[in-house]
Amino acid sequence: MPVPRSLFSRDRPADHDLTLRSGAWPADLTGELILSAPHPDTFDGPHPFFGEGMTYRLSLEAGRHGAPDGSFAWRQARIDSPSARLRAKRPDVFASTMIGVQSPFGATNSANTAPLPWGDRLFMTWDVGRPVEIDPLTMGFVGEVGHRSGWHEFDVVPQPVLPLVMSTAHPVIDPDRDVMWTVNTWWGQLHVVRWDGEGPIRSWPIRGATIPQSVHSITQTRDWLIVGDCAFKVEPQVLTGGERTEPANHDGPLYLIRKDDLEATPPGREVGCDVFRVAPEINHYYAIYDDTDGIRVLFEHTENADIAMTQGPGDLDALGRPCDPALRGLYGFPMSPDRTTLLELDPVSGAVTGHAELRDPTLLWTRQLNAMDWSTEGMSRPTSHHMVNQGWRPEAITQRMLAVYRDRVDRSLWPAEETPPLVMTASMPDLTVASVHELALDDFPTSPIFVPRDSGDASPGTSRYAGSDPGGHDGYVVVPIMNDDGFRVEVFDAADVGKGPLATLAKPGMTVPFVLHSAWMPAVARADDRPRLRFADELDRLDELPADLAAVAIEVATDLADGVPLP
Ligand SMILES: [Fe+2]
Repeated sequence: MPVPRSLFSRDRPADHDLTLRSGAWPADLTGELILSAPHPDTFDGPHPFFGEGMTYRLSLEAGRHGAPDGSFAWRQARIDSPSARLRAKRPDVFASTMIGVQSPFGATNSANTAPLPWGDRLFMTWDVGRPVEIDPLTMGFVGEVGHRSGWHEFDVVPQPVLPLVMSTAHPVIDPDRDVMWTVNTWWGQLHVVRWDGEGPIRSWPIRGATIPQSVHSITQTRDWLIVGDCAFKVEPQVLTGGERTEPANHDGPLYLIRKDDLEATPPGREVGCDVFRVAPEINHYYAIYDDTDGIRVLFEHTENADIAMTQGPGDLDALGRPCDPALRGLYGFPMSPDRTTLLELDPVSGAVTGHAELRDPTLLWTRQLNAMDWSTEGMSRPTSHHMVNQGWRPEAITQRMLAVYRDRVDRSLWPAEETPPLVMTASMPDLTVASVHELALDDFPTSPIFVPRDSGDASPGTSRYAGSDPGGHDGYVVVPIMNDDGFRVEVFDAADVGKGPLATLAKPGMTVPFVLHSAWMPAVARADDRPRLRFADELDRLDELPADLAAVAIEVATDLADGVPLP
């Protein structure tokens, strides 16, 4: 049973101090690993992805944040957002559904999916809510992005206090403009959103741009934003507890929007786009920022995977065995091998040109997440794309999924036996396998980060997040690894992960439940003082609530203003 059963443990997360179990910790490995996750006490809902947001943070330097000399601080906190505070005061009025957690206040903003650093600031995101800023040091709530009146609210349910905003878990920070670009879809219409770091958002509807499913990522080059339809499919009957009947769309539209066109158009007015179609299905994609020689985008396709479907009582796995109740809620792993492509999109001719493809059914299954050099220099000229793969895992595929995808899955590609998880590097832009490290069959690697060897002040003339030799090859790949025998963090040389870990941190008996994306920050400090949206600024619809709940909303606004800790 290779998938750790501790993945969905509802044990309360705790702070820990990790120590070096093997190897030598590199002296020039610095900064902090940040992880986003749904809080495990909300794993009892229909999908673990909808749990309340929390943050884990590991200092990559010993002796920080109260850890003893020689120990590395693992710290965690639930995000004390208005959503979390309202729920803590009145848990009885909140209910988990297949589209998140609903209440008379409106829809919970879980902010549990991805950390998004913006210089010294830190935002936590998810697909169905505004990005949430937290204090990088305390991990406490600081504010949401843009007053709700600027966003199109998906008002299928009453939402007097907590708006339901369809957005994306992967906005981007524009290094030239120093702004956040994200999206707001409304009844399928795509709107692009720009936020300058303070005040209201600005948004533009994109002419002819509809989103059949959802938007999980956007990406950018210097001049263009790229938004694709992503493979998280919600069929109407699923909202009321019905079964999925259709697979995620095999292909979908991809829109290219010129940043200059947005900025030349008053907000609210339509902006045009160029339309492409991309297959197979996508969730994560990353453009090369320098578009001097064309618009090139790396797509991590999620072919025949279904993260919207979870396993539950009565399910049988891909080999016909009863699914383990301990894995209830596990999302559908890929039924086909990984496919990663580098495509060039030409807005003049409309052509899509394939530059490279990485696919190896004997080796590459269940790509989890990636580690890249996110500095401006690294995104402009990437050299390495590091990934973790969890291996072929028939116990994480249900017969219900196979029935829905029956016409699309080639079972002859399935390995005869489970395959080991991998830490691997593909070289850019040719996507050849540069280096591979095999983990143990019962390991579950997750959310790696790339850390440049020396960054910021150590490399004069480069941007804050860049090392002296940017691109992703000069530095470290840091990989958290779940295992029922104990959580550990392994550090690899980014130039050759195949050499195996240079160092391993662990603490006996410590396990960590399911987490989502990660990010690296060179340092964490208290959030700066600047004008921010307050929850109290959004309480103009309290008359739609019963008096007792309106009073609770006012209490939460007061608690936030006074810094009262979440119980
Ligand atoms: Fe994601």
